[in-house]
Amino acid sequence: MDSDLKQVTHIDNVRLGGDEKSVVILDQTQLPNRTVYLTLRTAEEMYDAIRLLQVRGAPAIGICAAYSIYALSRQWPLTDYTAFAETFHAQKEYLNSSRPTAVNLSWALNRMESVVAANAKAPVEAVLNLLGAECRAIHEEDIAMCRSISEHGLGLIKDGDGVLTHCNAGPLATSRYGTALGPLFLGRERGMRFRVFSDETRPLLQGARLTAYELQKAGIDVTLICDNMASIVMKNGWVQACFVGCDRVAANGDAANKIGTSGVAILAKHYGIPFYVLGPTSTIDLNCPNGNHIPIELRDPDEIREKWYAEPMALPEVKCYNPAFDVTDHTLIDGIVTEKGICRPPYTESLAALFATRP
Ligand code: MRU
Repeated sequence: MDSDLKQVTHIDNVRLGGDEKSVVILDQTQLPNRTVYLTLRTAEEMYDAIRLLQVRGAPAIGICAAYSIYALSRQWPLTDYTAFAETFHAQKEYLNSSRPTAVNLSWALNRMESVVAANAKAPVEAVLNLLGAECRAIHEEDIAMCRSISEHGLGLIKDGDGVLTHCNAGPLATSRYGTALGPLFLGRERGMRFRVFSDETRPLLQGARLTAYELQKAGIDVTLICDNMASIVMKNGWVQACFVGCDRVAANGDAANKIGTSGVAILAKHYGIPFYVLGPTSTIDLNCPNGNHIPIELRDPDEIREKWYAEPMALPEVKCYNPAFDVTDHTLIDGIVTEKGICRPPYTESLAALFATRP
């Protein structure tokens, strides 16, 4: 693997601080212009880092939350189990309220809390040690899941293909290879060549700032396009597959991802281009029957009116609607690529089967 590629696939985006009482993140809001690491010490700093997208991408949010609740637990001067469990629950709920759509956040925090619940008879110090092991396991498992998703996804494309992606589902959003971008990094490692079209992804520009950055740095042929240019590149015959990530997949296969993803899927259907959603099983929410039940985050209207502009591009009183995610209907999805394999329609059956099999 060449060093530039390895630097991207092994980017240090989220880790536990050396004191185990803090979390260190790469501030994604500063990329691509500045590489800035932040040390998060308080619950408020951790909450804000997730809410403000300093750490973002469904798996990375889950990992950061798991490290955060552990780092906070190490700070409490509590030796009584009941007081510890109550404080843990309150702080967990607080962190969980930072963003609503990515199920990985509650998945990781619930997993951490189940360690507390399962060890009610143990001394608090022992519970802390188990929590430390659990958050590290969540991170390690995500590395393995991303690698496996990348292998499965790579089988869907061939050397020389054009791939269109939306938002960022690469190493910054996950651990190591990423999900939607994973097959491209893995293929590059094996000497394959792809031509990638990265939607800029309005309004927060994850495609321009993060996806184009990662691919360019890794030596992969990437072309940045505005979101409304996806149709023309598809019509030109330059796209053989669409790969996107996901924040929550419902039991019927409806998949929430960054706002604009469903439009890409509709275009892909029109042009007969396969559309794939790639994500770990931690993003699949079988308790959610369909996309209508997925909570969609609404964000600050000023992200549309004035963010990124030298001066506002709309009158301050202009009404704005700023949903962060949309749901792609399962009928538009050709496959959902997980670490356990590729699910095909009917998703109600293929997704349920994933959880029926032993790991
Ligand atoms: O608002 P963001 O930047 O957190 O949205 C991220 C996405 O929509 C990603 O595609 C998704 O979380 C998958 S990351 C592997």
